[in-house]
Amino acid sequence: MEYILYEQKGEYAILTINREKALNALNSQVLEEISTALDEINSDEVRVLIVTGAGAKAFVAGADIGEMSTLTKAEGEAFGKKGNDVFRRLETLPIPVIAAVNGFALGGGCELAMSCDIRLCSDNAVFGQPEAGLGITPGFGGTQRLARLVGAGMAKQLIYTARNIKAEEALRIGLVNAVYAQEELLPAAEKMASVIAKNAPIAVRNCKKAINDGLEASMDEAIVIEEKLFGDCFETEDQKYGMAFFLDKNKEKVKEPFKNC
Ligand code: CAA
Repeated sequence: MEYILYEQKGEYAILTINREKALNALNSQVLEEISTALDEINSDEVRVLIVTGAGAKAFVAGADIGEMSTLTKAEGEAFGKKGNDVFRRLETLPIPVIAAVNGFALGGGCELAMSCDIRLCSDNAVFGQPEAGLGITPGFGGTQRLARLVGAGMAKQLIYTARNIKAEEALRIGLVNAVYAQEELLPAAEKMASVIAKNAPIAVRNCKKAINDGLEASMDEAIVIEEKLFGDCFETEDQKYGMAFFLDKNKEKVKEPFKNC
């Protein structure tokens, strides 16, 4: 792959968009390579994925404006579908995905971050959906995910004005979970990945599915989704071990890693 770096570090992996000269802008090739990298994740071993951008300046500065500039109506729709399909795959990946947003996250970059489960960012991060200023709408899910994350009113304000916001404002409106000094961002994401990876993997995956699927359903349907995923956990060795460990009164005992079964 030319534009994606993928590194497995024990129980988590880091996917880096590596097109630094263009501030990691997403052209068709980058999107295809993200998809290929997702195909290659070893789901028996990798329990958390971190997504970040190469360099100190940008996470992803958007979809590639050069590539988009000459698209026809049909080609524009197909390009939107290409991005949406990849981002939806990321959003529904069975394992948790943490976006480590290390700079500009504009347009498709903000949309990529919003397809992840958790967003951490550096203090130089800038978020925004500048599309209306380019004569287009957000095209990789921005109109949908931003409204779901920060509420329709704030999403409409950001999208209609095409105004960029800095890390602190992104934190205030709930677009990101935490802000770190630049050099602390990736270590913080890796630390969080390690903490998540220590919990029972099937339970964590079921939590992701319950939250994601539940948000798309009515409350009556959503609690049934949760009941089934909750019930599934009782067929796992990890549930038996986790509860037996809690109930064991021998406080000297050290908790063993969950077996993922
Ligand atoms: N597409 C293509 N190339 C891009 C790009 C993008 N989205 N963003 C940056 N680049 C390129 C620049 O063209 C430049 O290339 P050259 O060196 O060959 O000229 C290089 O990256 C460095 O960028 P700048 O010189 O512009 O760097 P800067 O520090 O002056 O500005 C910036 C940084 C404010 C992020 C600015 O690059 C910028 O505004 N980029 C575009 C941001 C944007 O509008 N993104 C939304 C795109 S539309 C979209 O994403 C639609 C969708 O929803 C799918």
